Amino acid sequence: MEQKQIVLTGDRPTGPLHLGHYVGSLANRLELEKKYKQYVMIADVQALTDNFEHPEKIRRNVLEVGLDYLAVGLDPDKTTFFIQSMIPQIAELTMFYLNLVTVSRLERNPTVKTEIKDRNFERSLPAGFLMYPVSQAADITIVKGTLVPVGEDQLPMIEQTNEIVRSFNRIYKTDVLHEAKALISNVPRLPGTDGTKMSKSAGNAISLGDSLDDISKKVMSMYTDPDHVRVEDPGKVEGNVVFTYLDVFDSNKQEVAQLKAEYQKGGLGDVKLKRRLIDILDAFIAPIRERREQLAKDPNYVMNVLLDGTKKTLHVAEQTMYDVRRAMLLDYK
Ligand code: TRP
Repeated sequence: MEQKQIVLTGDRPTGPLHLGHYVGSLANRLELEKKYKQYVMIADVQALTDNFEHPEKIRRNVLEVGLDYLAVGLDPDKTTFFIQSMIPQIAELTMFYLNLVTVSRLERNPTVKTEIKDRNFERSLPAGFLMYPVSQAADITIVKGTLVPVGEDQLPMIEQTNEIVRSFNRIYKTDVLHEAKALISNVPRLPGTDGTKMSKSAGNAISLGDSLDDISKKVMSMYTDPDHVRVEDPGKVEGNVVFTYLDVFDSNKQEVAQLKAEYQKGGLGDVKLKRRLIDILDAFIAPIRERREQLAKDPNYVMNVLLDGTKKTLHVAEQTMYDVRRAMLLDYK
């Protein structure tokens, strides 16, 4: 028997989702929704912690991300989608949790540490950014999530969540909060077209709504082996982004193995390889792109899916807060 698990996961709506998201999390969610109760949260509050001066960007991308979820085939009857800012109980719970966390512990959170460095905040670090792991603990525990599928980089967040859960249960002598387990996907991270981390802002991402033309341009500019100048030169397969993608998306493993051998020996040109990848990626993206275009014609439908899920989540959040308030002796009547 499967244990009864509650899955909670989410994305910051800072741009439409891309192939890296598909490989790293969306594919996994399509499987998880068959087995478990699954919540998928659009983390607009978290996105604002470093985009608070650009509310229109976040607003626009809530819909884009919602479109992506439905276009890849997540089923609103199986997965409950919700918008973080519409669950005020998350903010309330965050406030209670903040007492249980020290500033120095937050400063030591490896994920936050790198992000602070990346963003050059220095002395102007917003307090909201520093404490977003606490808010993330509230995201997870507000639905009593027990399974959190995330990338490796989010492990410190789950660790910090569980520290908060244990402190809360110990201090308030209760067991209302449950610890969560990180579900780390075993697929390696898909690199961007230039071989570095894929992200919309780096301009190296292939989006789920990309046209054949977009895909072609991006694949043609992909990083291969800079020393593979002439077709007859032997080429490197490791770190060659075209091969990394073929490994993930080309179902004909035998032919890929042959292509690799040929490439390493010399005599196989980048363009030929890239043409193959363009066909394969377009075949993969085309149905998603078409569903996306269909759905985009009816943004109200997409918004209603998000709002329906939010309404369901509100009920669950209220129940959790009832338990939390009771444990904290805040259940005045
Ligand atoms: N921090 C996650 C990211 O940047 C998004 C997120 C917010 C999340 N709250 C969450 C993920 C709760 C899992 C659980 O991708």
